[in-house]
Amino acid sequence: MSANDAASELARLATVLATANRAYHTEDTPEISDAEYDALKQRNAAIEARFPELKRDDSPSEQVGAPVLDAFAKVTHAQRMMSLANAFDDADIAEFEAGIRRFLALDDDAPLAFTAEPKIDGLSLSLRYEKGVLVQAATRGDGTTGENVTANARTISDIPERIESEKEILEVRGEVYMSHADFAALNTAQETSGNKPFANPRNAAAGSLRQLDPAVTKARPLRFFAYAWGELSAPLATTQYDAIQRLGTLGFEVNPLTKRCTSQDDLVAHYRAIETDRANLGYDIDGVVYKVDALDLQRRLGFRSTTPRWAIAHKFPAETAWTTLEAIDIQVGRTGALSPVARLTPVTVGGVVVSNATLHNEDYIEGRDSKGAPIREGRDIRVGDRVQVYRAGDVIPKIKDVDLSYRKADSVPFKFPQVCPECGSAAIREEGDAVRRCTGGLICPAQAVEKMKHFVSRAAFDIEGLGAKQVEAFYLDDWIAEPADIFTLRERYGTGLRQLKNREGWGEKSADNLFTAIDEKRDIALSRFLFALGIRHVGEGASGLLATHFGTIEALLSAADRASALEGEAWEELLNIDGVGEVMARSLVTTLTQPAERASIDRLLEQVAPAPAEKPDVSDSAVAGKTLVFTGTLETMSRAEAKATAEALGAKVAGSVSKKTDLVIAGPGAGSKAAKAEALGIETIDEDAWRQLAGLDSP
Ligand code: IVH
Repeated sequence: MSANDAASELARLATVLATANRAYHTEDTPEISDAEYDALKQRNAAIEARFPELKRDDSPSEQVGAPVLDAFAKVTHAQRMMSLANAFDDADIAEFEAGIRRFLALDDDAPLAFTAEPKIDGLSLSLRYEKGVLVQAATRGDGTTGENVTANARTISDIPERIESEKEILEVRGEVYMSHADFAALNTAQETSGNKPFANPRNAAAGSLRQLDPAVTKARPLRFFAYAWGELSAPLATTQYDAIQRLGTLGFEVNPLTKRCTSQDDLVAHYRAIETDRANLGYDIDGVVYKVDALDLQRRLGFRSTTPRWAIAHKFPAETAWTTLEAIDIQVGRTGALSPVARLTPVTVGGVVVSNATLHNEDYIEGRDSKGAPIREGRDIRVGDRVQVYRAGDVIPKIKDVDLSYRKADSVPFKFPQVCPECGSAAIREEGDAVRRCTGGLICPAQAVEKMKHFVSRAAFDIEGLGAKQVEAFYLDDWIAEPADIFTLRERYGTGLRQLKNREGWGEKSADNLFTAIDEKRDIALSRFLFALGIRHVGEGASGLLATHFGTIEALLSAADRASALEGEAWEELLNIDGVGEVMARSLVTTLTQPAERASIDRLLEQVAPAPAEKPDVSDSAVAGKTLVFTGTLETMSRAEAKATAEALGAKVAGSVSKKTDLVIAGPGAGSKAAKAEALGIETIDEDAWRQLAGLDSP
């Protein structure tokens, strides 16, 4: 390689790796595999080693993560930014409406109106106006904390700097996007100037909004549709539809295809009309969003852990493409699951190049679903096959079908491994589990490293500068073997013979930043701490529930110890937590009481202090801290709504009456529970009294 070739290759690698970094860290949509990324990085390092004088100022070997991310200040949203549950067919929509009616105890023929509007494929943004002046713009981030992009948002012409509103506070939420025409022009300009074109308008919009220099954002043709709101000092209207119209009169762009619908048939007809018009809209949409129109009903329906009960996204069918299956690799996840990954001849699906796809599990490859019934009419999937790939929104690509007419005569069925490809331990399938799992536990390097990747992930410890790649590299070099080791990195590699700052890709500043970022996470919310442990079946929502219920890690660990026999009072208490089922409880208790796991958690607790969970301030409610039991038929609300209301007031809701019950709310037809309450001398009230107690009716 000549010096000239080396220089131009280093320039190319700098661009490719910067884009890959951005896609991975900032947009959470990796465009190349980890292996490809590592190979490019190695190639870059090898050329730099041969031609040190050609090392660039923006050399990829000096960079960790995406610089764009570090530059924006964090913003805590006054009200969480939620995402939406998805529906894929008419049956899902019927269930959406039925669920709402059940929750609200509305008869089938009681009127229930919705709005329907396009789901814009961009990125959401929250704009905060105080006394009519734009004071802050923040991205969604993890929903709780986003990035402050105010200077950039001010350059978007659809976003007014001032609005005619005397309201003290008005947070307007909506989607930043780029039109097809603007996207095409931008990409032509990118290519002319020697820059890499963007994969699709969504990536272009995201990349343009998250620029360090607002002048760059200003030069990018971004647009904004308003469709929701956050904190408000006074309501905008009494219906979703009117509130959106109000945002329109205030000077925001609102989508002209927003429609009020009074039946499911109406909704689906509007969905089909938008779908038909999709190609002519001039911007990308990926479905239609339905929202309950009456805002008082929205308030009663409330939220699940990350999505509102009153809205759903009816997605358009995914785009598909045919390509060749080159290989099937098996990846081992943090819970030991063996996941087959399809390696494909790269193909463009919905504007993105896809070279990997999930194959779910061995049954899926063999052409059976989890109950043993045939899928794809029983066609199995083999290496060398012509396969159909699809992508639904942001999710990982999947294999949908196989074309047997392309299959060679000498092809053989895929043999799913019976031992873990990473540690050689037996890989077994438990009854009723579609997944084969490695039994190696903590001795399996893949499980250990995946556990730590999960531990540092965004919704868990979210340590800046410590992503999946760094964790993997540290693990391979025996710098870390379990989460606790992350917190002793400074002690072990801050000074002395081997130092982080001397590692490839690190320097004095980045090493120092990492140590500081790690120290900042020694105090962490209990819910994040629990989620970070990566216990099977214990996701973000459940971690939140457990944190609020137990308050401290000590209380939870002690409850797990007392529940270790999977029976008795502590076990019952766990099962009584709304949202905690038997499968989750079992997984929680067995993991927390397993000696090696527990020792590892104890070592972690020497390093970090999970902050006791903050309970909502409901101390003045009449039922705060009490345990309630609902029984019999409630007439004005469903059991689910009663439970949600009680919990919002700081009460616990249990399924059965015991000595610990404080109050029983009994409707008509209450049977043995009411009798038991009487026998135990527990106060029992009717639904009217409950409504007054909960402040739903004035006395
Ligand atoms: S409403 C509380 N309406 O879709 C409900 N979201 O998949 C807030 N989106 O995070 C969302 N178009 O970024 C809503 N018309 C629309 C939308 C929309 C696009 C995005 C939004 C949200 C994501 C959820």
